[in-house]
Amino acid sequence: MSSLHGVRCLVTAGPTYEAIDPVRFIGNRSSGKMGIAIAEELGRRGAKVTLILGPSSLTVNNYVDQVIRVESADDMLEAVKLVMPEAQLGIFAAAVADYKPVKVESQKIKKNDDQYMLKLIKNTDILLYVGSQKRSDQVLVGFALETQNELENAKKKLVKKNLDMIVLNSLNNPKSGFQYDTNQITLIDKNNNIVYFELKTKVEVARDIVNSIETNFF
Ligand code: CTP
Repeated sequence: MSSLHGVRCLVTAGPTYEAIDPVRFIGNRSSGKMGIAIAEELGRRGAKVTLILGPSSLTVNNYVDQVIRVESADDMLEAVKLVMPEAQLGIFAAAVADYKPVKVESQKIKKNDDQYMLKLIKNTDILLYVGSQKRSDQVLVGFALETQNELENAKKKLVKKNLDMIVLNSLNNPKSGFQYDTNQITLIDKNNNIVYFELKTKVEVARDIVNSIETNFF
């Protein structure tokens, strides 16, 4: 039996949508595929998984106990605050919008002027918050999407967000990232152990990530 059997896990996945007015939003191209694959793989091993999922058109299989659908980064933060205290493992794969509009217009914005200035304000960094609250019985895994100084930037995020492991998602590989079924990752843990993986399907990548967590932390 897997050592993850019965372990309570939280996984975040997908994009977030930040409302501009009743019909428009700021979003990103995340499909949710990577995070969903991780949640399903944990569930397959008997873990009790809650998936907090931003707007994604994908379906989630029955191995995942609970799916909480959210829209904005603020919604995701509220759901994480409810679930994380009960969790032993948190994997933060969501592509959370870094900024949101300062003000959500209550009526649809009309196209009057030639230029329209949209003022943005930073969203709470959910993983940074969770890292600051982490207990010694909890394991925290984050993602880093980098295009330059990849290892260095990923290591900085690992330390800053108080993580046990970070998944570096290299965008330098042309088939890696949001729009593809494949990903090329590097795993870095808090003891600076670094494991490189080749380009694989996201389902295979999820297996690699969960294997590593199972072996190193449970
Ligand atoms: N994350 C989060 N909440 C945010 C932003 C990011 O929980 N508001 C999490 C992501 O789910 C991911 C990790 O933090 O696990 C890294 O996010 P990323 O956007 O790559 O990096 P940032 O720390 O936001 O830094 P930058 O955008 O400057 O690269």
